[in-house]
Amino acid sequence: MRMYDIIMKKRNKGALSKEEIDFLIEGYTKGEIPDYQMSALTMAIFFNKMTAEETLHLTMAMANSGDMLDLSAIKGVKVDKHSTGGVGDKTSLALIPMVAAVGVPTAKMSGRGLGHTGGTIDKLESFTGFHTDISTEHFVNQVNRIGISIMGQTADLAPADKKLYALRDVTATVDNMSLIASSIMSKKLAAGADAIVLDVKTGSGAFMKKEEDSFALAREMVTIGNGAGRRTIAVISDMDQPLGYAVGNALEVKEAIDTLNGAGPADFRELCLTLGSYMVVAAGKAANKEEAREKLIEVIENGKALAKLAEFIEAQGGTKEEVYHPELLPKAQYVQEILSEEEGYISAIVCDEIGICSLILGGGRETKESEIDLSVGLVLHKKKGDYVKKSESLATIHANDLEKLEVAKKRFLAAYTFTTKEFEAEPLIRGIVE
Ligand code: URA
Repeated sequence: MRMYDIIMKKRNKGALSKEEIDFLIEGYTKGEIPDYQMSALTMAIFFNKMTAEETLHLTMAMANSGDMLDLSAIKGVKVDKHSTGGVGDKTSLALIPMVAAVGVPTAKMSGRGLGHTGGTIDKLESFTGFHTDISTEHFVNQVNRIGISIMGQTADLAPADKKLYALRDVTATVDNMSLIASSIMSKKLAAGADAIVLDVKTGSGAFMKKEEDSFALAREMVTIGNGAGRRTIAVISDMDQPLGYAVGNALEVKEAIDTLNGAGPADFRELCLTLGSYMVVAAGKAANKEEAREKLIEVIENGKALAKLAEFIEAQGGTKEEVYHPELLPKAQYVQEILSEEEGYISAIVCDEIGICSLILGGGRETKESEIDLSVGLVLHKKKGDYVKKSESLATIHANDLEKLEVAKKRFLAAYTFTTKEFEAEPLIRGIVE
């Protein structure tokens, strides 16, 4: 078999066989197939798509490309959560401690930034000393001891996805249904949780811009998960504007801490409560969603969720004082207001552009080797449906480079559309696929 022939077949709109998919995933994982051939193939997949059968084969080949985690040493029903990626999507930072504080063992596998979206691990590294490159033994012991751990993808866990993820991030080949479904589900299956709650984003800041495509992606992933014996459910949520107000690593950490303190943006809190309710029910810690929601609100109000975050940060080498004093987290040198040049109701925000503004400031990677700047980003003050006067602040921008600040500011202003008529934003939760 030759990689060249496989690329040609997909370029000509052919469907790849299981043998061909196994061959290319094995060859890429071992380093026998170079990045440039894999880039050509992923671009061909982007344009010519994959069938559900090809996607399933790709998922299983990637899940089997390394070790399968055995979490049986952790007591109770282990629940994992994964988002398809969005702008300002800091959900895991607040949600995982909330759920763990309710008593659900949360053994979560997270990733880094991808395309215009941020990643949980990059955000968590805003805490001095915090790291996710822990051994499986540490991961399992920590969940048994304190009920929570977030680990980065080890070299041994779905290594094919690890390599492909980094490649797609810098080759504009992220937003394809089969590549997303196989990327997420291969690591979820390899990571060993009993139940999986998926947050499938939809809208201009998501990889799936159209609602029907997001539902199709959700159905594909739920079918793969349930077919593999893991109870899987997907919540389709809005990403037609950033989630919450903060976009950028340390800024998002601060917003998650605010939320665990009982404040924070309403949409962000609501999404955490919705996803959390499904996780708590799946773990058998509540009889229904209503009871689960009450338990989650209780751990915010009594401070147990915030304490769980602090315990978790410390257990993985981080500085827990920063949880109680978020002003100690990385800060940018320049902080400026972005003033509106127009007046009216905000009718649209090109959400991926807001993510790109954060990348321009240094909050994401340009190449696989790039270092990111944890302190930069934006804090929005106005979102869809809000009325804005001319020269009123739309957002605060945090930067370490004045040239980048100017470029980001211009793109930010161009991402907003105004109308003279009152405008109501679409609902946060668009549907559930079980
Ligand atoms: N999250 C992932 O892990 N993979 C994708 O492809 C998209 C979001």
